[in-house]
Amino acid sequence: MKQFLVVVALVCSVAFAYAQPSNHIVVSTSLAKQQISKHIYGHFSEHLGRCIYGGFFVEENSTVPNTRRIRTDIVDALKKINIPNLRWPGGCFADEYHWSDGIGDRSQRPKMINTHWGGVVEDNSFGTHEFLDLCGLLGTEPYICGNLGSGSVEEMSKWVEYLNFDGVSPMAELRKKNGHPEPFKVKYWGVGNENWGCGGNMTAEFYADQYKRYATYARNYGDTRLMKIAGGANSFDYNWTETLMRKVPLNMMWGISLHYYTIPKTWDSKGSATAFGEAEYFSALKSCLKMEELVTKHSTVMDRYDPDKRVALVVDEWGIWTDVEPGTNPGFLYQQNSLRDALIAASTLNIFNNHSDRVKMANLAQTINVLQALILTNKEKMLLTPTYYVFDLFKAHQDATLIPLSIQSKDYVVGAEKLPAINGSGSIDKNGTITLTLVNIDPANSQEVALDVADVQSLRVSGQVITAPKYTDHNTFEKPGVVKPQPFDGAKKSKTGLTVTLPAKSVVALTLAR
Ligand code: AHR
Repeated sequence: MKQFLVVVALVCSVAFAYAQPSNHIVVSTSLAKQQISKHIYGHFSEHLGRCIYGGFFVEENSTVPNTRRIRTDIVDALKKINIPNLRWPGGCFADEYHWSDGIGDRSQRPKMINTHWGGVVEDNSFGTHEFLDLCGLLGTEPYICGNLGSGSVEEMSKWVEYLNFDGVSPMAELRKKNGHPEPFKVKYWGVGNENWGCGGNMTAEFYADQYKRYATYARNYGDTRLMKIAGGANSFDYNWTETLMRKVPLNMMWGISLHYYTIPKTWDSKGSATAFGEAEYFSALKSCLKMEELVTKHSTVMDRYDPDKRVALVVDEWGIWTDVEPGTNPGFLYQQNSLRDALIAASTLNIFNNHSDRVKMANLAQTINVLQALILTNKEKMLLTPTYYVFDLFKAHQDATLIPLSIQSKDYVVGAEKLPAINGSGSIDKNGTITLTLVNIDPANSQEVALDVADVQSLRVSGQVITAPKYTDHNTFEKPGVVKPQPFDGAKKSKTGLTVTLPAKSVVALTLAR
């Protein structure tokens, strides 16, 4: 009997191995038509912990090289990855922020309590002009989130006038007095943040009515057409999206936002950023890949009211949220960033690319020292995280044309659960260069992938890979180069395309140039 069971088990495992499909990707270059908006590669900087103060913005007379107190090394690093837009000042902070406290003579600016984030005193030394100076240095589009929760229609309306009116008006005069005669021409404008929660605990119906009031008085001035973004749903709240689409005329909003965070364990105990085993690795990836379902379902709701996809889905907060680093202020959300986070960033960006007919903008939370950061700082030191390098590898997708990929993947199995081992996206730029970004989330097995690509013989193939011995590997101030891109030589031409061997737990970017 025992022998019989062993044989059955063997037969089953062989059958399972054969039942696993091979990894196969069809790269449909001839179907490329949808542009991937560069704004999918946007970022988010809140007055939270050490993102602005102790991150972007240094102390007066700091010895850290800076321009008007904005850190040079950070600006240089972010310019390299072409950050297309930067969302500010929050987050939850946005619905408590009063913009007029952050303009004029710094020594006269009133202080406030940052009640959401550690209860620290905010001295308002980084305000509207400093933010727009930062955007100018970065060469990035500002995306300002206005205060709907505790502000007023008048306050938001005046902020827009202050920023954008090129004529004689009280707000334009004030801007000139504060040293900026030209209008700033800020286009992207969020009308509140998480108004179902920290932004006022509103119902969807109530928010939709408020949105219309606030949006009405946020005016277009001159040739600056505002791209107004309604505060959208929390994760799986499809009713919120449905209510906004039903109640708000489509021409009153450029986009609706969506917030979703990858949580390795639970909201109460999220899990460590760097000390975790395979069960937690798996659950984090599973949580991340839910983005596919979310984007699909919110888009389906939007399609019902907007089949022409005039209103964008703006995922303006996403990323992994873990426990804070031991010994740091729990209100500052400072977490390390491992190879796992690179796989999460890459998988999420692949999902956004593949849904770029509806997802026109997204913002990783948050740029420096907060949540899934691109950059960590410690006084004068700074390091680039594995997530930073993913944005570097993916930057060729910005404003390129999406190539639909049809992906058949083996499974990554843990216990009774499984996920597709590989995911990817592709694009072609105006010079005909194809970029394919592929992820293998399986931490133990490399994956051989057959890619069907037309005319491959005429293309030069090169690539880069991000991987490391352990999925917990991360960069530290002492060892900043543990996880970083390396040249990739795992792609070989075949008769019909390419055979690519993706290392275990890796992100690979392939360039196919003419
Ligand atoms: O990104 C941190 C916080 O997460 C933001 O302030 C808020 O919008 C979200 O809940």
